[in-house]
Amino acid sequence: MEKLVFLPTLFFLLQSPLSTARLLSSGVHPVPWGPKRPSSQAEALIRALNLFPREPVNIVDGPDSSWADGPRLVEKRFKFPSLDDDNGTASVEELGHHAGYYKIQDSYDARMFYFFFESRGSSNDPVVLWLTGGPGCSSELAVFYENGPFKITDNLSLVWNEYGWDQASNIIYVDQPTGTGFSYSNDSRDIRDTEVGVSNDLYDFIQAFFAAHPDYQNNDFYITGESYAGHYIPAFAARVYQGNQANEGIQINLKGFAIGNGLTEPGIQYQAYPDFALMMGLIDQQTYDSINQTVPECENEANQCGTNGTETCLNALSTCSTIFNSILQVVGNINVYDIRKQCEGSLCYNFSNAQYFLNEQSVRNALGVGDIDWVPCSSTVYQAMEVDWMRDLEVGIPALLDDGIRLLVYAGEYDLICNWLGNSRWVAAMEWSGQQNFTAAPEVPFLVDGNEAGVLTSYGPLSFLKVYNAGHMVPMDQPKAALAMLKGWIQGTLG
Ligand SMILES: *[C@@H]1O[C@H](CO)[C@@H](O)[C@H](O)[C@H]1NC(C)=O
Ligand SMILES: *[C@@H]1O[C@H](CO)[C@@H](O)[C@H](O)[C@H]1NC(C)=O
Ligand SMILES: *[C@@H]1O[C@H](CO)[C@@H](O)[C@H](O)[C@H]1NC(C)=O
Ligand SMILES: *[C@@H]1O[C@H](CO)[C@@H](O)[C@H](O)[C@H]1NC(C)=O
Ligand SMILES: *[C@@H]1O[C@H](CO)[C@@H](O)[C@H](O)[C@H]1NC(C)=O
Ligand SMILES: *[C@@H]1O[C@H](CO)[C@@H](O)[C@H](O)[C@H]1NC(C)=O
Ligand SMILES: *[C@@H]1O[C@H](CO)[C@@H](O)[C@H](O)[C@H]1NC(C)=O
Repeated sequence: MEKLVFLPTLFFLLQSPLSTARLLSSGVHPVPWGPKRPSSQAEALIRALNLFPREPVNIVDGPDSSWADGPRLVEKRFKFPSLDDDNGTASVEELGHHAGYYKIQDSYDARMFYFFFESRGSSNDPVVLWLTGGPGCSSELAVFYENGPFKITDNLSLVWNEYGWDQASNIIYVDQPTGTGFSYSNDSRDIRDTEVGVSNDLYDFIQAFFAAHPDYQNNDFYITGESYAGHYIPAFAARVYQGNQANEGIQINLKGFAIGNGLTEPGIQYQAYPDFALMMGLIDQQTYDSINQTVPECENEANQCGTNGTETCLNALSTCSTIFNSILQVVGNINVYDIRKQCEGSLCYNFSNAQYFLNEQSVRNALGVGDIDWVPCSSTVYQAMEVDWMRDLEVGIPALLDDGIRLLVYAGEYDLICNWLGNSRWVAAMEWSGQQNFTAAPEVPFLVDGNEAGVLTSYGPLSFLKVYNAGHMVPMDQPKAALAMLKGWIQGTLG
């Protein structure tokens, strides 16, 4: 694994030679950079949750004639060649595992990759869609390291995950926005830079998905995900709601959406960094007092960014990032996703097995992904979303809650970057019809097999869950509790 250093010279030297993809995308900056481009923020995040991409983004060379006039959705059943199913008897049909590409309607030439794993329980289980964050990180990270049907061993074979969310749902993992994971385009104008583009693409995809899978149209539908998906999820949920209201296409049976360690209301969440760091003993009072002085300016600029600012949002990101970066300077080589750990090998987590596995020829053949190079996180997709970063995505949520659509916000207690404190604050500050009753609701233990696995606050459609002994990736750190959480939430027995 190459050492990850976010310096332009190293960045380009480590590219694979003479790649059109590199030339195309490196020459195009989808966002006009502001004068205060917050590169240190980008560095901190990319350094930590990113293997070094061999290509900055999946932009393919030339037209993709393979199915120019074909259907929008192409899907195949597959079985991973190295799946250890004990006696090797499970047939492709029995597994009900699918990989597909959706040709994005409103794009020049973009293809959205997804996995669809039928439930190991019942086909009547809800359809759950999972989104990994980044922005620009592949949902395959969740498939193999969090809540997918299997885990990768060091010899690159797959073993079943006892706590995969396919135990309780028919689950879809999407690589998005375009350029993420196995999703690609031949045109750099397809790189998204707002939640409008992101949510429209996801809406068009789910329409095509249910059109191709009419048997699942009446199942309950839930949107889930993590981290930067704290932006995607409310935007997508609101888009589905709007489509349903307008009788647009197929009615989507949206019952709820869940955000795990997300970034949703940055104006509130950035203010929580010093408080969380002080509370967890990462910084002392003197450091706190100094860092906390930036809070009013950050809050003010985040307010100016609001829901749809542009330059103001880059200014806010620049100012607010100094809060986070000042803490990082003090805490040294901490893993910002789990403050109990050190950031190992400059990557914080080691996802290299997935990278080796997904780039094996036999795996690519099984999935039908052609020559697309798989990287965990795309820095081009990441940078394109910088102007989106500080926007407030909370504003669209109250209308959904007031119509009975459920929201679960959960957070592993040891994550710094999208910590539970900031999440609990925006959830409590959200104005909706049940706000007073929610803030007055008691905290109750979240029990898994009689053990306290977290603490829950619920009122009506809204729940906030702090998960014990977990960092940023709750299903990775507490797989059993995470599956119990999903089951309880969809059954309405969580709290
Ligand atoms: C992308 O592919 C489409 C057809 O699939 C073609 O019309 C278009 O010219 C291609 N764009 C580029 C930049 O190659
Ligand atoms: C292994 O084979 C037995 C007998 O054919 C079967 O009952 C069992 O389900 C198989 N296990 C797996 C994981 O396929
Ligand atoms: C791969 O590793 C797993 C456990 O880590 C082991 O059960 C399995 O036998 C190994 N497979 C091979 C082919 O070595
Ligand atoms: C941190 O700054 C905010 C905003 O100025 C202020 O409201 C808060 O009281 C400060 N916290 C402490 C403990 O001084
Ligand atoms: C931008 O946000 C402001 C305040 O939230 C709103 O009044 C305005 O209509 C929005 N503009 C667009 C183009 O969405
Ligand atoms: C990541 O894991 C792989 C496989 O276990 C190992 O070979 C490699 O040395 C690890 N890399 C780092 C940076 O720890
Ligand atoms: C809030 O709780 C009170 C009782 O504690 C109840 O009378 C009221 O109807 C609740 N409000 C809403 C909006 O559910």
